[in-house]
Amino acid sequence: MAHSIARATLGLTQPNAVDVPKIAFAAKEIDAVEWKGDLLAVGVTEKDMAKDESSKFDNSLLKKLDSQLGGLLSEASSEEDFTGKAGQSMVLRLPGMSSKRIGLIGLGQSSSTTFAFRGFGEAFAAAAKSTQANSAAVTLATTSSISNESKLSTASAIASGTVLGLYEDTRYKSEGKKPVLKSVDFIGLGSGAEIEKKLKYAEDVSTAVIFGKELVNSPANVLTPVVLAEEASKIASTYSDVFTATILDAEKCEELKMGSYLGVAAASANPPRFIHLCYKPSSGPVKTKLALVGKGLTFDSGGYNIKTGAGCSIELMKFDMGGSAAVLGAAKAIGQVKPPGVEVHFIVAACENMISGTGMRPGDVVTASNGKTIEVNNTDAEGRLTLADALVYACNQGVDKIIDLATLTGACVVALGPSIAGVFTPSDDLAKEVSTAAEASGEKFWRMPLEESYWESMKSGVADMVNTGGRQGGSITAALFLKQFVDEKVQWMHIDMAGPVWNDKKRAATGFGIGTLVEWVLLNSSS
Ligand code: BES
Ligand code: MN
Ligand code: ZN
Repeated sequence: MAHSIARATLGLTQPNAVDVPKIAFAAKEIDAVEWKGDLLAVGVTEKDMAKDESSKFDNSLLKKLDSQLGGLLSEASSEEDFTGKAGQSMVLRLPGMSSKRIGLIGLGQSSSTTFAFRGFGEAFAAAAKSTQANSAAVTLATTSSISNESKLSTASAIASGTVLGLYEDTRYKSEGKKPVLKSVDFIGLGSGAEIEKKLKYAEDVSTAVIFGKELVNSPANVLTPVVLAEEASKIASTYSDVFTATILDAEKCEELKMGSYLGVAAASANPPRFIHLCYKPSSGPVKTKLALVGKGLTFDSGGYNIKTGAGCSIELMKFDMGGSAAVLGAAKAIGQVKPPGVEVHFIVAACENMISGTGMRPGDVVTASNGKTIEVNNTDAEGRLTLADALVYACNQGVDKIIDLATLTGACVVALGPSIAGVFTPSDDLAKEVSTAAEASGEKFWRMPLEESYWESMKSGVADMVNTGGRQGGSITAALFLKQFVDEKVQWMHIDMAGPVWNDKKRAATGFGIGTLVEWVLLNSSS
């Protein structure tokens, strides 16, 4: 297993190089009616759409636009039954206005959350795309009631939604499409250094989210553990002022006694790679040390407990490295933002769960790097086996806090559905930190119990533990298993993101976790 260069890709597939859409964002305090360009989009709530007895808008911006258009806006909105519901949009082509088109985009009833404004940004991007707009502007019908603080986060949420809404992953299609939108002006959300900085941050994080999506979308015949490690090394060399990379091959992992991780890797012709990036600010003292650990199964066949039957989703199991994409995406953003006062370790035990004569059998006993023994009663519960050694390694870095992210259990998807990740932690403080970070990022998490009495089902007759309990409480027993490999002195959180990693409707990765992880690192920095 001593290859060091990626093998020629099975099936001859090579991704096309596709540029990440580069949009120039600017924040302006001008009259929206006077803005010149291709598309002026106005965010409206259902309340903003209220009309008086003579069918005129109550809202002052809408009233002004409508009178300039000789009542066209109020007429069209009635005819098209546009009421301002979230996701609704209406675009009119106009002669004789300074803007070529005007669009109304629904914000729904309450528009106060980051999540809502991100969705609004996506709807805006869709409108810009379908009208082939080069230049666009966004404003809200009602801005007077928004505080300056929330104007910043509103603009940044809309900017992220726009970048992500515009992006389409065409790397594996023989013909790509180029987005045409080049510039977006924010009107009425403030102007100056503070908002420009916030928009730059939104852009940095969105670029990292796109990187994360591309990692997850990449098929397993292209994105092998070696290729994933190369992507990590690229981050370290791009931001060499703050990053160092350590990549361990199977031999090195054997020296470190990572028997649990290597057991999973043993059936694959694609060799494993243990990835460790370390971020240190280039100057100033470090107050807090963090680790982000991601499950990095570039493919999960299940092993001898092969994934069979309807709904097992084996053909989607390229996404089983979603945790590692979140971790490496966060690394990319952190390299760009460079927060002071915090050291961050990014750790991934990457491998592939396959089937062969060299592979692990159900019933085998493996020994993790902390000396604990595990009876593998199910080879499809492989993620926790790789994370066990990764968590021991993270603790050995002397960190204060660890968050691990993993597409760990189907049980978590059953419990919380496709858009909410499960959070497991003994620490109320850490739970609070992450919930604050999630509010800023607009991603959804729900805290689940670490019910110690369920450990009973994880006892083995022959080893220290088995790797799977029964069907009941499957995401909880998985979390309890991980807890066996974390030092008691370290604050630890496990995030099960098996649901939100993938968007079934869009048939694409979501980039889940990156926004929240970056916010969490910033919360722990001295910036
Ligand atoms: N990668 C899967 C979890 C998964 C399943 C993610 C479906 C997304 C969608 C994980 O390795 C796995 O196979 N877990 C098993 C655990 C079981 C054997 C205890 C599962 O959830 O079925
Ligand atoms: Mn599995
Ligand atoms: Zn898996």
